[in-house]
Amino acid sequence: MKAVVLHQHGSVDNLTFEPSYRDPQVTEGHVVLKVGATSINYHDVFTCRGMPGIKVPLPIIPGLDVAGEVVEVGPGVDGWKAGDRVLVNPIHPQKGLMGEMLDGGMAEYCLASGKQLIRIPEGVTFEQAASLPVAYGTAHRMMFTNGHIKAGEKVLILGASGGVGTCCLFLAKMAGCEVIVASQAQDKLDKLKDLGADHGIFYDGFEKKIWEMYGKPHRRTFDGGVDVVVNFTGGDSWVPSMRSLKRGGRMLTCGATAGYDPKTDIRFIWTFELKILGSNSWTVQDLETLMEMIADGRLTPAIDRVLPLEQGREAVKILEDRAVLGKVIVRP
Ligand SMILES: NC(=O)c1ccc[n+]([C@@H]2O[C@H](COP(=O)([O-])OP(=O)(O)OC[C@H]3O[C@@H](n4cnc5c(N)ncnc54)[C@H](OP(=O)(O)O)[C@@H]3O)[C@@H](O)[C@H]2O)c1
Repeated sequence: MKAVVLHQHGSVDNLTFEPSYRDPQVTEGHVVLKVGATSINYHDVFTCRGMPGIKVPLPIIPGLDVAGEVVEVGPGVDGWKAGDRVLVNPIHPQKGLMGEMLDGGMAEYCLASGKQLIRIPEGVTFEQAASLPVAYGTAHRMMFTNGHIKAGEKVLILGASGGVGTCCLFLAKMAGCEVIVASQAQDKLDKLKDLGADHGIFYDGFEKKIWEMYGKPHRRTFDGGVDVVVNFTGGDSWVPSMRSLKRGGRMLTCGATAGYDPKTDIRFIWTFELKILGSNSWTVQDLETLMEMIADGRLTPAIDRVLPLEQGREAVKILEDRAVLGKVIVRP
């Protein structure tokens, strides 16, 4: 089969397109899928570079999010048959993450456990379903299960143009929040406003911009600042994010694209009673809820572009280069 393969860590440039890579063989408890679409996540950039503490069995086919059609069913798999349209929960019950611990979706065919399969409802395309698990699933958990965002709250989203970020924007608007998005580029801010954002600001001195808009956070009156900052960027954005929050405000995080060990200032945590709430991954319920939202028209995932498998490396590079608004999809 055709596949995009990482043989050794280093950089995204190490990804190679292979026109005749080994086909997956069906095994006990597993199915083989014909991949309909896979989506790229920043995680794929980290996998190419190599992450401290994570030993990837190389060579590996990247691509955590897979949607497709069942073509072969192994012994011991109940409830699934050839022709079923399915979304794969990227967490394999024994091995870990697709595209990291076992081959992922950047190929024509892919092996998945029967326990990972979720039926795709009518009206949801492979591209839309493949947009969901890692980015939208985590955003759903972060905003609702752990973040408890509520109507009327002011929510600042850093990195709003990416996969997780655009979903946070959609969910915050759905919940009735006032949303401020931050980006490095004016064209991204313009597009995010088209997608529903109320205000757009640049990163440079963003906390001062928040103070201009809502007042400087006041520890006695509880006035000023925003209720929630969504920060999966880390790095230099961490302390300014704390300074943007009102007393009792929540910082929601699920990652650290720009650095996981930023300088911090714990005075803000106690003085302003800040809550720092981490989120990691998603549940099957998050994914089912998101697919229902698409099927009934409440949610339309932001898809930046759809590329063929031959351009798999370019697809990952687009994320690394921050040249994205929403999700990049690869379709074999
Ligand atoms: N824990 C979990 O389960 C989980 C799940 C999903 C994602 N994550 C993490 O969440 C983060 C976002 O993932 P994603 O897939 O949404 O990524 P993405 O689509 O590439 O979006 C990230 C956005 O962050 C902004 N950004 C700010 N500083 C950046 C930098 N130094 N390098 C690159 N982008 C930067 C970019 O927007 P501007 O150019 O507009 O600034 C970019 O669009 C990643 O760190 C990822 O590992 C964690």
